[in-house]
Amino acid sequence: MLGTAGAGGALALTGTNPALAAAVEQGTAAYGVDVADVFGPPPGVAQLSRNENPFGPAPSALQAVARYSAQGAYYADRAVRKLIAMIAERHGLESDRVVLSSGSTEVLKCVALGLGRKGTILCPELFWDTTVHYAEAKGVKVKRVPLASDMSIDLAAMKAAITPDVSLIHICNPNNPTGMSLDGEALRAFIRSVDPRVTVLVDEAYMELTARPDYTTVVPLLKERANLVICRTFSKIYGMAGLRLGYAMTSPDIAETLRGYLMSFGGNLAGLAAGIASYHDEPFLKASKAFILESRASIMEVVKSCGLATCASDTNFVYVKVPDADALYQKMVEAQVDIRPAYGRWTQWSRVSTGRAEDIGRYAAVLRAYVGA
Ligand SMILES: Cc1ncc(COP(=O)(O)O)c(C=O)c1O
Repeated sequence: MLGTAGAGGALALTGTNPALAAAVEQGTAAYGVDVADVFGPPPGVAQLSRNENPFGPAPSALQAVARYSAQGAYYADRAVRKLIAMIAERHGLESDRVVLSSGSTEVLKCVALGLGRKGTILCPELFWDTTVHYAEAKGVKVKRVPLASDMSIDLAAMKAAITPDVSLIHICNPNNPTGMSLDGEALRAFIRSVDPRVTVLVDEAYMELTARPDYTTVVPLLKERANLVICRTFSKIYGMAGLRLGYAMTSPDIAETLRGYLMSFGGNLAGLAAGIASYHDEPFLKASKAFILESRASIMEVVKSCGLATCASDTNFVYVKVPDADALYQKMVEAQVDIRPAYGRWTQWSRVSTGRAEDIGRYAAVLRAYVGA
């Protein structure tokens, strides 16, 4: 039977690898290692801590992964070019303005390191700053600007904090962990007011989930500002966090600089297959957003019934004001509900992600017990 299983597909080649052939023969997909538990949330855990989207990946994406993974023996650079062309076309850009990466984290790190190291990174005090920490650990200086009193990013204070040493301004819109969006026009005016020698990075990881993506995005500014970088991801509305695909859109010059900092070359075959197959899957995208908005509404309802306040979320997570975020986190841990512990000095703010109805139900039960509702 060696090498005959699945004739015509990759399995027909197992004759060249006796160990693989034996595994196929026995029906063990991973050489006897039990992998059932290593994908997805840990068994029994309601995972609401990482802003993932369990509605995805799209059926179109799953079908493409199943169909094309057999070509995983080959580097997938033609697929990289294809997806870059699709992204460029969708946003009315030339392909040399798009950089594809392993999740958006990789290219965000490239921006922080490549452009931040020319001076100082200016950013809000509270935002998704993983990639800024990465650059900081490598010697890049960072200047943080307090939020406004309503928890929004304070653009006027950011403007006032631009000193000659600033080389990169990093803004996350909508912001994480608050979930709040900046007004599109206000952000565009801010970007237009920044000295062109300073690069502005807008992380739009959650943009597709906002109430008014076309108004809130700064993509239209790419044509008029060469100092702008916008990052997007397939991890959120596309529900592909584990498939690792993201991208930056910018000027051709900055794109060239960023490519020089990439650790690899833009995506693995499974992610690329899924991304290409679902990028224009409008029925899925509509349903995915509806799923998220419904889940968010149910979180809001529970939180309100507990007498708690929230930031106005435009995303797939909610920032809830609680007496003690770490104490609540501990209660959740005991019930195997995974939410975020407090961020830094924001000890009275607790972030929960949208998710499956049963998981939100478990969150609600612990929250109610915590507030005694
Ligand atoms: C604002 C923001 N940007 C970027 C990322 C990174 O996502 P990924 O690397 O999966 O694209 C996240 C992850 O949660 C995020 O919240």
